[in-house]
Parts: sequence; structure tokens; C-alpha cells
Amino acid sequence: MRTYKIAAIPGDGIGTEVVDAGVEVLDALAKREGTFAFHFDHFAWGGEYYKKHGRMMPENGRDLIRHHDAILFGSAGHPEIPDHITLWGLRLAICQPFDQYANVRPTRILPGITSPLRAVKDTELDWVIVRENSEGEYAGVGGRVHQGSPLEAATDVAIFTRAGVERVMRFAFGLARSRPRKLLTVVTKSNAQRHAMVMWDEIAAEIAREFPDVTSDKMLVDAMTMRMVIRPQSLDTIVATNLHADILSDLAAALAGSLGIAPTANLNPERNFPSMFEPIHGSAFDIMGKGIANPVGTFWSGVMMLEHLGENAAGRRLMKAIERVTVDPALHTPDLGGSANTRKVTDAVISAIRADNT
Ligand code: IPM
Ligand code: MG
Repeated sequence: MRTYKIAAIPGDGIGTEVVDAGVEVLDALAKREGTFAFHFDHFAWGGEYYKKHGRMMPENGRDLIRHHDAILFGSAGHPEIPDHITLWGLRLAICQPFDQYANVRPTRILPGITSPLRAVKDTELDWVIVRENSEGEYAGVGGRVHQGSPLEAATDVAIFTRAGVERVMRFAFGLARSRPRKLLTVVTKSNAQRHAMVMWDEIAAEIAREFPDVTSDKMLVDAMTMRMVIRPQSLDTIVATNLHADILSDLAAALAGSLGIAPTANLNPERNFPSMFEPIHGSAFDIMGKGIANPVGTFWSGVMMLEHLGENAAGRRLMKAIERVTVDPALHTPDLGGSANTRKVTDAVISAIRADNT
């Protein structure tokens, strides 16, 4: 029987609560399937580790997880540590060297969840955002001089490479092709940003020729926010730069009912390195330790992990169990306006998995 080695990195805040829940659910699912198993290695990296060791993960951290089949991540962020340190010290320190350049963020209104868009039917919002995840505005290039003096200056330089843009475009067009509507919207800002964004558009048009069966259109990011709200049905697969997609994916999550539900996959499509799966909600210190975090974002990330591992049937079973639970308002956590807690939702998903005899 195949055993998948998974590196579990809960990180900070509610990350530990939702990753524990995710591990329980994935174990229950593997038992239900009976054809594979999970072996989880737990790595207590993050803010508390930083306070003891002055870094977010050990120097050889990446070596310890390089040969795992996948990474299940919680969140990075700590109230006593600046955000740019926690981000660059852990999440980006894994994503970038492991070349997880395709960040995939599906958004759907799950059964039982109410979208703030009153006029939209559940089936009319079904998107996947592909976020460029290795360069662009998150390239980390820049500097700061004359700190504290009136001459102080700072730059953050966005880097776009032809190779980097081509590969994420090819990935996005391929993903669009695999979905029924075969529709891709390329988000840009080439009216104001006249160098890299113009190259971005040109490369999108070039790659489009490789995918004649995919319909694509181009959308300026500001206008895109309106289209997401006003004509959500007109969108399917979306590709955007690191920062644009970061912003649009929070909007997408809110329009689908809650940030607590939204999953993400940081993929290295060539599989030279493990890929990483995580809820997008972050550490949420305001509710940490209360046991009320919504674990659904982590469970759905688990579905994406199963698909990446090729366990599609198990992924479908888990998604079905999640939807059985979201449909019941008594199983909604406070982010969805309910009063259920993490434990109750986790138990319900596990029961749904066990009860599913298909
Ligand atoms: C996300 C998050 C991160 C990002 C934060 C935590 C730095 O917002 O995954 O969308 O901006 O990449
Ligand atoms: Mg974000």
C-alpha cells in the first residue's frame, strides 16, 4: 500500500488548529479508502521557533522536507514579529526555492453558504485564480538607504522574466483547457505599467496561440474588481501577477462567502520539489486558541493535495463530505455567522466520510 509522506507545518495563530483538524480528516479519509496511507511529519516552525532561535525555520529546514510528497501548511504571522520577517522566513522561504510558481486558488460558493452578492446563483461563481508565485512584485528586489534621514529612499522592484511569465501563462491556459468552459481572463495593468505589464500581455497573446481551443480575454486589474462583483458569471479561469492575484483572491474569497473556506495550492508542476497546500486565511490572532477557526479552507486544500497526488477519487469523496457539512447551518463557524466550532465541523466531516458508501 502506498504511503504518502506529508510535511505538516502548522505555523502560527489558528494555523495549528486547522492543520491538526486537516491531519485528522486526511487520516480518516485514507482509512476509508483503504488503498493508501499518510505519514505526517510535524515541523513546529514559525513565530515561536523564531523567538527561541532567531529564525523561522532551521537552516537546513528545506532539506528536511525536500523529499516529502507534499507539504500541508497552516499560516505564517505572529503578533510580536514584523510580518515581512515571518513571511520571508517561512512561507516564501519554501515557495520560492521550491519553485512553486503556480499558485492555484479555486473559488466556488459551496452548498449552504451565502454570498454577499444577492443576485448571484451558487453555480454562477466558479473560478480558479492562477497567481504567479515566484517573481513579480514579490521578487524581493529593492533596498532602503538613508534610514531616518529626510533623504530616506526605498524601492521595491517588480521583476518579470520571459521564462517566468511563459511558464505561468502556459500553466493557466492548460488549466483553463481542462475546465468545461475553456475560458481564461488575463489580468494586467499595461496601461499604467508600460514595461513589464506590456511584456506580460505580449507573452499571454503568444501562449494563447498554443491553445486555440481556449478563449481568452484581457482585463485591467481595476476593472477586474468590478467585473468580479457585477458579472461573476463571465469569468472562469483567471491568471494574474503575484500582487494582483493576492488582492483579487481575497475579493474572490469574500464573494464566495468567507475567507475561512478558501484553499490554495502552491504548485511546482514539474515535481522537482514538493508542492505546498494551505488555507489562505492567515493566522487570525483575534480568534486563535478559541477553537472556533473554520477548518474548511484546510480541508479543501487537502482535496487539492489529493488531486496533486493523483488520488482523485479520494479527493472527490473529501469534497463531497465538505459540502455535506457546509450545507448545514448548524455546522457553520462564526466566520459564516454560525456558532459551531472547529471540533464539531471536523467530526462532522469525518462522519460524512465514513458514511459515504459509494
Ligand atoms: C496570501 C497572503 C500572503 C501573501 C501574506 C500572508 C503575506 O495574503 O497568501 O494571499 O500576500 O502572499
Ligand atoms: Mg493574500
